Amino acid sequence: MTLIFATNNNNKVKEIRNALNERFEIISLKEAGIDKDIPEPYDTLEANASEKSRVIFEMTGKNCFSEDTGLEVEALNGEPGVKSARYADGEPQYVDIVDKLLAKMEGQDNRRARFRTVISVIIDGKESLFEGICEGRIITERRGNNGFGYDPVFIPDGADRTFAEMELDEKKLYSHRAKALKKLIEWLQQSSPS
Ligand code: IMP
Repeated sequence: MTLIFATNNNNKVKEIRNALNERFEIISLKEAGIDKDIPEPYDTLEANASEKSRVIFEMTGKNCFSEDTGLEVEALNGEPGVKSARYADGEPQYVDIVDKLLAKMEGQDNRRARFRTVISVIIDGKESLFEGICEGRIITERRGNNGFGYDPVFIPDGADRTFAEMELDEKKLYSHRAKALKKLIEWLQQSSPS
């Protein structure tokens, strides 16, 4: 099965490909010849994920999926959440959003946080949603150089290293994205067994 993945984030493409078996071929937007930054205007992950897959389905008529992810920090009442990519002012880089998070968490004892991913898939014009959650905690300074976004300051429950200290094969044992993807794959396999 071939699916267009509605993202311009190469890290996400790498993670999704790493977590999928050979039954699925993932085409990135770039590979599909689509040069488009799809907006994320809504205040829920679900609505943003739906919007991204809808836009690509309307452009191509092909089976596709998208995902939206947020980091929800307990002590910050769920922030940055759906605004995770835009947590700092201007056109924020990963370094800015992590700095802002660490500053807001300074002196905070409750370090609990979770990543939540919502996948929206459109198969033959019909949409379905899948969710994956990874519980963990925010540490006080960066550790590791792998991954992206908040990976250097997030340790998933059951591990003692940050996502940025893990290779993809290890991150996928814990990750929100891999969990949502697993649900998607199980559903696809039930819908079209072979
Ligand atoms: P997006 O809106 O789904 O592209 O992601 C929002 C932001 O959350 C990204 O820009 C990253 O900063 C962050 N993010 C998403 N997924 C991850 C992850 O797996 N690890 C660390 N940060 C992530």
